[in-house]
Amino acid sequence: MKAGVTVDFVPPPGERLVGAVADHDDQAVEAALRPKDLSEFVGQERVREQLDLVLKAARQRGATADHILLSGAPGLGKTTLSMIIAAEMGAPIRITSGPAIQHAGDLAAILSSLTEGEVLFLDEIHRMSRPAEEMLYMAMEDFRVDVIVGKGPGATAIPLELPPFTLVGATTRAGLLPPPLRDRFGFTGHMEFYAPAELERVVRRSAGLLDVAVDDDGAAEIAGRSRGTPRIANRLLRRVRDYAQVKADGRITRETAAQALEVYEVDARGLDRLDRAVLTALLKLFGGGPVGLSTLAVAVGEERETVEEVAEPFLVREGLLARTPRGRIATPAAWEHLGMVPPQVAGGAGGIGQGGPGQRSLFAE
Ligand SMILES: Nc1ncnc2c1ncn2[C@@H]1O[C@H](COP(=O)(O)OP(=O)(O)OP(=O)(O)O)[C@@H](O)[C@H]1O
Ligand SMILES: [Mg+2]
Repeated sequence: MKAGVTVDFVPPPGERLVGAVADHDDQAVEAALRPKDLSEFVGQERVREQLDLVLKAARQRGATADHILLSGAPGLGKTTLSMIIAAEMGAPIRITSGPAIQHAGDLAAILSSLTEGEVLFLDEIHRMSRPAEEMLYMAMEDFRVDVIVGKGPGATAIPLELPPFTLVGATTRAGLLPPPLRDRFGFTGHMEFYAPAELERVVRRSAGLLDVAVDDDGAAEIAGRSRGTPRIANRLLRRVRDYAQVKADGRITRETAAQALEVYEVDARGLDRLDRAVLTALLKLFGGGPVGLSTLAVAVGEERETVEEVAEPFLVREGLLARTPRGRIATPAAWEHLGMVPPQVAGGAGGIGQGGPGQRSLFAE
């Protein structure tokens, strides 16, 4: 990793039980848990309805569906939906990803081997190389690519006709897509985080497939700690299953789920050890802030990037922490969640444990 080169920060796989990025273990079981058609796909009502129309209309016309872009955070179901799109169209699917296509030639090879109506799933489309991207523009619009033969002044472009196909692009960073690429998609589905009731359905469905007995309260308990993300819900379900099997009679109730997730240090709102350490430092050492990111990171003994990219996004989303120009501050909900009383309510610094101005200057940036 050289200076000046930005790399998407990805925490090491398997390290966090509440991480949204797939780890090795997830990859092994996810295939078994993936819904196979739109009716099985839980939640995302809007995207589902829109997609249903796009696909039905294409089927009625006997045509290939328009190119589709799916954007959303990791683990919300982009890969799952792409497979459903192919299944609904009764078409084969070819799967590749942006980082796998470094040269335009790589893409030309894939495109030229597509069959009519095939779905090409391009995961992490924002990470494709520039030359490949330009080739893709033409392929998407005109179903044609120019294959360059030879080098230098003698090089010639040989046009190659492609059969009509549907490109399904997935990205966690829609903002990074160049506008010409974004414009060539006929439909963009924005995937949202899931509501607790939807995640409950995901948990019950997965429990059925994994042959685990879970009651409604047990499913709700797991759902509430899953950060709006089906992948996390499925992962927590597997850990709770282990606990229920070893410590109880194998059945998942609210109590076993809560006890199990206590053991794995995932709290009632889905915060893990790191998230809680950041919040606790912010409240106890800095009286709720504002405090600079570096100072906060030192206080929890983590890298700046870890605090900023691993812990903070969820804390911000949950309305527990705010990033302000003067530094990080805790919201009233953060005090409440950790069962503490904010200083002003307590009527002075005496009410908030060790935090105090003297200590704060120790960490001043
Ligand atoms: N709507 C849903 N209903 C039921 N299960 C779902 C749903 N969405 C996702 N899942 C489950 O969550 C897991 C992760 O989904 P998927 O791999 O499609 O996410 P993704 O958006 O492609 O993530 P990434 O950005 O990491 O590639 C899958 O195993 C799938 O079973
Ligand atoms: Mg995926």
